[in-house]
Amino acid sequence: IRLALLFGGRSTEHAISCVSAGGVLRALDPDVYDVVLVGIDPSGRWVLLPDVHALAPADGELPRVTASRGTSVVLAPDPTASRWFPRDGAESIQGPLGDVDVVFPLLHGPFGEDGTVQGLLEMAGVPYVGSGVFASAAAMDKQHMKSMLRAAGLPVGPYAVVRAGQTLSEADQDRLGLPVFVKPARGGSSIGISRVDAWADLDTAVKTARANDPKVLVEAAIAGREIECGVLGRLDEPGAQASVPAEITVTSSTGFYDFEAKYVSDQTRFDIPARLSSSALARVRQVAVAAFEALDCAGLARVDVFVTPDDQVVVNEVNTMPGFTPTSMFPRMWAASGITYPDLVDRLVRLALR
Ligand code: DAL
Ligand code: MG
Repeated sequence: IRLALLFGGRSTEHAISCVSAGGVLRALDPDVYDVVLVGIDPSGRWVLLPDVHALAPADGELPRVTASRGTSVVLAPDPTASRWFPRDGAESIQGPLGDVDVVFPLLHGPFGEDGTVQGLLEMAGVPYVGSGVFASAAAMDKQHMKSMLRAAGLPVGPYAVVRAGQTLSEADQDRLGLPVFVKPARGGSSIGISRVDAWADLDTAVKTARANDPKVLVEAAIAGREIECGVLGRLDEPGAQASVPAEITVTSSTGFYDFEAKYVSDQTRFDIPARLSSSALARVRQVAVAAFEALDCAGLARVDVFVTPDDQVVVNEVNTMPGFTPTSMFPRMWAASGITYPDLVDRLVRLALR
């Protein structure tokens, strides 16, 4: 199977994508997969990386993609149409994508997880791993994700949208209460997110979020345990399945599951499976699959929820391209459910090829 692994990307999660891609690359059986490695540098330039094996060091991390590496593929976000044609000596986009069987767009955040790359692949007629254009776009924007989940009858927490030039109204402050979490509407890996415990700190938090996205979400804190669940499959055939859920317990000074707690700190505790009652575990899995269905996801998603003290499940968010390093929650939850990391990667590719 000739597979193009697309990684890096223009979002703030570029480096996470590189680490995820390093893991997937090493998990692909070389007897089955012929891998074409396509990096997208932070400016949006597509780069065909020539030597896959030289780029898969044992320490797990791929180098950041730079424009000077490998062969330049001209698909830069440039407004002048002529720039969309290959420059002298450059590979055309057909080079890396035209002759592959499947693409694994292992990109997190805007310009990768949000339907943009999925649209390009639809137009190119190449099968790809994961959700399509609509689900990717819907899940990327926390406002629309929540309204769709709510419309499907799934519980979501209270929130308000604060657009550029707006501030949170006093009525919304009263409705949400403190603390609140202030987030870029379209972000990931907790980048740009602050916890606000006093309204005096709200403006700074909104500015921080706005550095990532002009549209900001202010969410009420949900009193509950932080639980994640992986979903794998397709809604048509063979159906979607939920993994064993996991619980995250954060003890860091910020008091929430921020970037540090996700990727750096050793003070985050992961319980796989989550130590919940069997009825709460079953409910989490049921809600995870329902959220996957509500957004019309495909392939994979990680559904993050809160389980309240009275065992209510409140959906926090759905990630259509969850972190995929060998130590990320999505593959670990599937490992605990009996699907090893290489098997998981292989299943995702085969789901895309169905
Ligand atoms: N956005 C990060 C990669 C995640 O959901 O795991
Ligand atoms: Mg997310």
